[in-house]
Amino acid sequence: MSDILTHIDAGVMTITFNRLDKKNSITSTMYAAMADAVAQAAADASVRVVLFQGHESIFSAGNDIGDFLNQPPSTQESPVFRFLRGIATFEKPLLAAVAGPAVGIGTTMLFHCDLVYAGDNAAFSMPFVNLGLCPEAASSLLAPRMFGYHRAAEALLMGEPFFAEAAQEVGLVNRVVPPTEVNGYAQAQARKLAGKPLSSLIETKRLMKGGYQQEVLAKMDEEGQSFGRMLREPAAREAFGAFMEKRKPDFSKL
Ligand code: COA
Repeated sequence: MSDILTHIDAGVMTITFNRLDKKNSITSTMYAAMADAVAQAAADASVRVVLFQGHESIFSAGNDIGDFLNQPPSTQESPVFRFLRGIATFEKPLLAAVAGPAVGIGTTMLFHCDLVYAGDNAAFSMPFVNLGLCPEAASSLLAPRMFGYHRAAEALLMGEPFFAEAAQEVGLVNRVVPPTEVNGYAQAQARKLAGKPLSSLIETKRLMKGGYQQEVLAKMDEEGQSFGRMLREPAAREAFGAFMEKRKPDFSKL
């Protein structure tokens, strides 16, 4: 069974994280599969809406840390960057159904979704600083813009989780439902959208987001360069080593 499942029905492409034993953490193979699926969804006229979902217990633990250590993204053509550019420039509606933890890119990818539904067990976090890294996915631009600077600074500098209600309050989440219902609710919303005129959906989204798309892509590139460099530096090596060895990281000498 693949770690990323894709399924098209009633105009909706559903992309499911399917790596529960590793908490739906995302390897470069999974990014490549998602980037390909998003490109297919863009090109395929029968796909009108894309929905990302995980499991009722976890959306995603973010980047696979072992994969990061073994094959850090090295160029802008790396699968993770291909995936991020794909969702940032996707013209049709993008939805996400989030239950349980959404760590790192599990949260930052949501800035590129148009509608986000959350289980009341959802826990969003962007712990890049705690990993010796910096934000990605243009979250250093989009989080302050959406949350307001101080709330974004708290989320990005402290890196602690914030929960469904707070996420709804800052505008990251449209609606909170029970975790067992979130995928079904999001699917129903996606199907409603798929029944609307696609040209109007695309034009409405372009009018809302088109004005700052270049700014988003430029920030993603800038972040990507810092992130790629920091992945190889001592703080990240210590954080990742500590995670693999199931101990607390020691940044006291860094
Ligand atoms: N990369 C690689 N493996 C991961 C992972 C990740 N990001 N997140 C979880 N896993 C693995 C664990 O190593 C463990 O593997 P094992 O069973 O072989 O030991 C398994 O998934 C279960 O994880 P565990 O931590 O025991 O689950 P939990 O329910 O106690 O906690 C999380 C879930 C998501 C809160 C916790 O796993 C976590 O914080 N993960 C790291 C998140 C992170 O820092 N991501 C990077 C963001 S850039």
